[in-house]
Amino acid sequence: MLSKCLQAVILAAGKSTRFGTGTSKLLAPICGKKMIMYPVQLLYNLGIHLTMVVGFEKEPIQECIRASLGDDVCFVEQEEQKGTGHALLCTKDMWHTDHIVIINGDMPLISKEIITKLYAKHTETDAVISFVTARHPEASRYGRVIQQGTHVQIVEAADITEQTPKSDLINAGVYIISRAFLLKHAPSLTNNNAKHEFYITDLIGIASDARETVSTIVVPLDNVRGVNTIQELYAAERIKHDELVQYWMNRGVRFMMPDTVYLDHDVTIGAGSIIGAGVHLLRGSIVGKQCTIDAYSIIEQSTICDNAHILAHSIIDTSTVASQAEVGPYARITNTTIEHNACLGNFVEAKNSTIGAYSKAKHLTYLGNATIGQRVNIGAGTITCNYDGKDKHETIIQDNTFIGSNNTLIAPITINHHAYTAAGSTLTHDVPENALAFGRARQVIKAGYAEKIRANASPKHDIESSTEESSQDTADQKNQPEFTYSCAVASTHDPLTE
Ligand code: UD1
Ligand code: CA
Repeated sequence: MLSKCLQAVILAAGKSTRFGTGTSKLLAPICGKKMIMYPVQLLYNLGIHLTMVVGFEKEPIQECIRASLGDDVCFVEQEEQKGTGHALLCTKDMWHTDHIVIINGDMPLISKEIITKLYAKHTETDAVISFVTARHPEASRYGRVIQQGTHVQIVEAADITEQTPKSDLINAGVYIISRAFLLKHAPSLTNNNAKHEFYITDLIGIASDARETVSTIVVPLDNVRGVNTIQELYAAERIKHDELVQYWMNRGVRFMMPDTVYLDHDVTIGAGSIIGAGVHLLRGSIVGKQCTIDAYSIIEQSTICDNAHILAHSIIDTSTVASQAEVGPYARITNTTIEHNACLGNFVEAKNSTIGAYSKAKHLTYLGNATIGQRVNIGAGTITCNYDGKDKHETIIQDNTFIGSNNTLIAPITINHHAYTAAGSTLTHDVPENALAFGRARQVIKAGYAEKIRANASPKHDIESSTEESSQDTADQKNQPEFTYSCAVASTHDPLTE
């Protein structure tokens, strides 16, 4: 219904001066989504035709909107940023519906309910302007709604003086305005104010002066916070993030320390999963049911299937970890598929690889461009040497093989089914099925040779002189100032039982 009666204008040309980063605040991500995309997607999903006013950093803003919505959105350029009223006026040639919803681009918390409630109020009251307000008792940078009798106006923060009547109602930055009223009055806005800008908000006073109907709705501040500074970005992101955490808690997900995790808006988490402290779930990652993601792991653009366990401090990017598999602690997995019941353990890195079901590489291993079959055991310290300085080469380790510890597998190489490789081997050739491959120097024993070395050693290294050195060390230690270290003593104090 809204789509037929309304079109939308989103103001997104501002210079983001107060943001202080030198870039547009509208491109700052909030829970993994660029700020401008929150109002854009909301109005788009309501089927309302969109016109965006762009200026500062217009190319990246247009690019990110086109990337998700294609060419359905119109862009109008505001070449010089002369204020919100001027930005709106730049879109004059695009106005085609009887009423137009105008919204600041820096409102990531705005919801569908607010737009529909404002539209209902606007039509019920037959208003020329309706706008959204919220209660904000503290002094703030928002425009204040000043009501005196039947007259209403908005006084911008920069223009408030001692004489301005007190008001705890702020203007949120969402308006529905009749096109006829806009055509008549928007061109006559002036910049006679503290910032020498053309304010969209002056239209409220103008309508009230002309005894036209001006309507408002009051909503919670947290739904309409504007973002001008980094602090306000943080505040908005906390609200968004808390919403996401609540959403997943309601669906049976346990967060060990919810305040410390970071969730992107587009992740999915299955019921019964446990998310440890400091975990980051990013870029559309999917965590299945009954998974455990231990503390400080980062999962990005990846799928973790049911009952998988990611141990602490692991980084998983663009990968799939199948059910019952185990990864970490301190693992780094990139563009890799780990099949069910496989295990990549402490300090293991896998990149561009596949690890078959029930296979294990539990300690200090690098697997790059490797295809590992099922039930393979890879010993500690094994490395696939996949890069020759120019090209990457593949290592294939077939089912049921046993790779001894500290192997160096020089790719391209294939270790065929059921083969064994000896610990400490450097292998350059394929190993046939069922074979045992050695690729290491044979051990040599020279009986009694150690005594010979000691007899020929220089006096500096004999036992007596090293005793002297150590007594010198002791003397040096004596000259050191003494320190007292206090030890933490186990206490019987238990705050939870008191
Ligand atoms: C604006 C309102 C203020 C309200 C607050 C709510 C005005 C004059 N004031 O103030 O009453 O309480 O929002 O958050 O409107 N923009 C342009 N072109 C410009 C200037 C701004 O496109 O020349 C865009 C910005 O990119 C931004 C939006 O308009 O998305 C609002 O501008 P901003 O400077 O943030 O206005 P506020 O000072 O917050
Ligand atoms: Ca603002």
